[in-house]
Amino acid sequence: MLEKPPVIKPYRWHLGSIAWILHRITGLLLVFYLLLHIWVTHHVTEGPEGFNKVMSVVQQPIFLLLEIGLLVTVLYHAFNGLRIIIVEFADNGAGAHKTLFGIMMAIAGILFLVGGIPMFMHFLHVLNK
Ligand code: HEM
Repeated sequence: MLEKPPVIKPYRWHLGSIAWILHRITGLLLVFYLLLHIWVTHHVTEGPEGFNKVMSVVQQPIFLLLEIGLLVTVLYHAFNGLRIIIVEFADNGAGAHKTLFGIMMAIAGILFLVGGIPMFMHFLHVLNK
């Protein structure tokens, strides 16, 4: 008797899978930032000259923009991470994952405006000096 061949369907992207990929990317970016941060601050062991030298590099305007990117990365990872924790531990958490995503991203968005606007104004101020 002939068996039906298995039906292979193309993968359908959905909110959960995109949120998961972004969580992984932001997690890895945070690890990279942590290593960079440790590398920069370890220069303090070389005394004021060595430390000031590396600080003069990381205080250039481009790093002020990168810090805004860091804020986005931290906020997404932290608030999506909280969503994952709630989804895993709350009753019917999985059923509410889309609503939770909306709530968490709204909070992250507000915090981004609160932090990001002054950071961007500071960037403009440094550029116009
Ligand atoms: C408020 C702070 C944070 C929260 C609430 C949080 C939450 C989480 C959660 C719940 C997971 C598991 C995701 C899953 O089960 O799929 C996770 C994964 C991860 N986190 Fe965080 N995290 C935080 C901060 C950080 C920081 C500071 C770093 C890096 C220095 C980091 C790096 C990672 C990495 C690399 C993963 C693995 C990603 C993956 O394999 O998909 N997290 N985080």
